Amino acid sequence: MTDVVAWLKENGNLKIIEEPLDVELEIPHVAYIEVKKEDSRPLLFVKPVNRKKGIEYDIPVLMNIFANKEITQKIFGKHPDQIALRIDELMKLKPPRGFRAKLAMIPKLFALRNVFPKRSRGKGECQEVVYSKENADLDILPILKTWEGDGGPFITMGQVYTQSIDGKTQNLGMYRLQQYDKKTLGMHWQIHKDASHFFDQYQKEGKKMPVTVAIGGDPLYIWCGQAPMPYGMFELLLYGFVRGKNAKTVKSLTNDIYIPRDVDVVIEGFVDPVKMKIEGPFGDHTGYYTLREPFPVMEVDTITMKKNPVFQATVVGKPPLEDKYMGWATERIFLPMLKPMAPDLIDYNMPENGVFHNLILAKMKTLYKGHAQQFMHAFWGVGQMSFVKHAVFVGEKAPDLEESEKLIEHILNRLDKSKILITQGVVDHLDHASPEQFVGGKLGIDATADEIGEGVEHPLSDGQLLERMQKIDETICEVKQYMVHTKTPVCFISVTKKESQKYVISKLHELKAHIKLLVIVDKANNALDNPYMLIWRVANNIDAQRDIVLEPFIAIDATNKDKHDRHEREWPGDTFCTKEVLDRLQEKKVIDIDDAFVKKFGLLPFEQ
Ligand SMILES: Cc1cc2nc3c(=O)[nH]c(=O)nc-3n(C[C@H](O)[C@H](O)[C@H](O)COP(=O)(O)O)c2cc1C
Repeated sequence: MTDVVAWLKENGNLKIIEEPLDVELEIPHVAYIEVKKEDSRPLLFVKPVNRKKGIEYDIPVLMNIFANKEITQKIFGKHPDQIALRIDELMKLKPPRGFRAKLAMIPKLFALRNVFPKRSRGKGECQEVVYSKENADLDILPILKTWEGDGGPFITMGQVYTQSIDGKTQNLGMYRLQQYDKKTLGMHWQIHKDASHFFDQYQKEGKKMPVTVAIGGDPLYIWCGQAPMPYGMFELLLYGFVRGKNAKTVKSLTNDIYIPRDVDVVIEGFVDPVKMKIEGPFGDHTGYYTLREPFPVMEVDTITMKKNPVFQATVVGKPPLEDKYMGWATERIFLPMLKPMAPDLIDYNMPENGVFHNLILAKMKTLYKGHAQQFMHAFWGVGQMSFVKHAVFVGEKAPDLEESEKLIEHILNRLDKSKILITQGVVDHLDHASPEQFVGGKLGIDATADEIGEGVEHPLSDGQLLERMQKIDETICEVKQYMVHTKTPVCFISVTKKESQKYVISKLHELKAHIKLLVIVDKANNALDNPYMLIWRVANNIDAQRDIVLEPFIAIDATNKDKHDRHEREWPGDTFCTKEVLDRLQEKKVIDIDDAFVKKFGLLPFEQ
């Protein structure tokens, strides 16, 4: 895949947008809308401009490369399950017995020779054009500002190549990079990530850390950059394994870091460990802004590129997004790697509206009491799986994990309070719900057993419940019950919050004959008839230890937290599109959306 654009034209139904569009908001808004469509396509913006800076870029912007499952599969060259199968076979490799078995093993071992990146001498295609020192100006790149509230433009599909201080280990991570000016970038490698561990080594020794950021080339590089490989394993090994071909690398011009030779753009520089700068805010893939926080700064020394480069970028915000498809491949390919620590795991699914780390559904074979709890602890203790906030385990007879309706029904018929584990552990750097950054509540539900006996004692209609509730508390605005035919109907209510919801819940105890599972959301920006976005909101907004009450019924407070909850950290806002930009794009006929679409995906704030 040397020319991605040509390849996408042939294989990906690439949509080319000739209209000059601004890198600030316009291009990202078009891509954000496209990826939410059923038949989402990759997009090439051939005339990016920056009206504020008065720039017409020579470099086109390529977005939404992982536009759907079909194209993702084509990028991999095969279904991710087939790659998982090969990994599984390798992990189960046993010493061969007999001559025939030895012969059969040869091709498998031979294929492994493709795994290691190959270093070539001389310059790569990515170094055809060189801008060094004072000519190295980040403004030649069409770097996007996605959201109105973003702290600036960000490189969103950067492959960040770093190496350990002894030079023995190299890493590829996908981290966003804020452009501060013509020469500096904010390095948003989160505290748990490999580049941050390398950074610690340089900081300890007081040495400058070389960094090379690559953009473009084979889209598989970017998938490898986000893959949760264990610390110390270079992600380009995974590239070689998947492609069946070694990644071909060349040395950066100004440091010893090797990068794939076919990438489009390369930014070389260093991070001085004594310099930190405020990064953000940035509308993130959680659908919320991540707040301002100090991060290391990269000082750019040299920029190189192909003669005709394209600039790859993505847009993050509320689901569904491009990471839905990248995440799908990751989920499939990493299944066999989870099995050594959880051998009776059958399958797992991380739905995109659970923002991946916020919700995992797992199917397992239970062999003994406490088996599901054992898996919960195993998951919460390993690598990036440990960021998972909510884990639900079902038994082997449960419906397919992607059949959401049937699966939810199955879980609700087995939701037993005595099988709910609430504990504390490490949470994702981006989690905003935990009272303290980096540690927070974990919820584990063991739904592997048989159906529970009792349902709701005296079911009521939504209207009857609302009437009873509003007599108890006037901040309650709406009621909608889901899955009323199950043993545990889910009763959503929306409120205009004026106090801690713990207090509201305690007042609702008298309705215990009518409720088994209550979920509270704010009235603002939540539609009770939109379960997809409700799951997104709840999974994001709760800290299980603080926000879940189990008696007399299960109650979940998924409202935004504030002083009423003694939540001292700033609570971030949702990512919303800019109305004028949407209107302008609609007028230019670059997008075509209606009010239902806007509401379905929460593109704009709800009218109060
Ligand atoms: C679209 C997208 C954006 C991401 N942005 C960041 C980021 O800014 N910072 C970060 O630490 N991880 C980010 N990640 C997650 C990392 O890429 C992922 O955790 C990866 O495994 C990190 O690699 P490492 O373990 O080698 O550090 C992002 C992932 C995706 C799909």
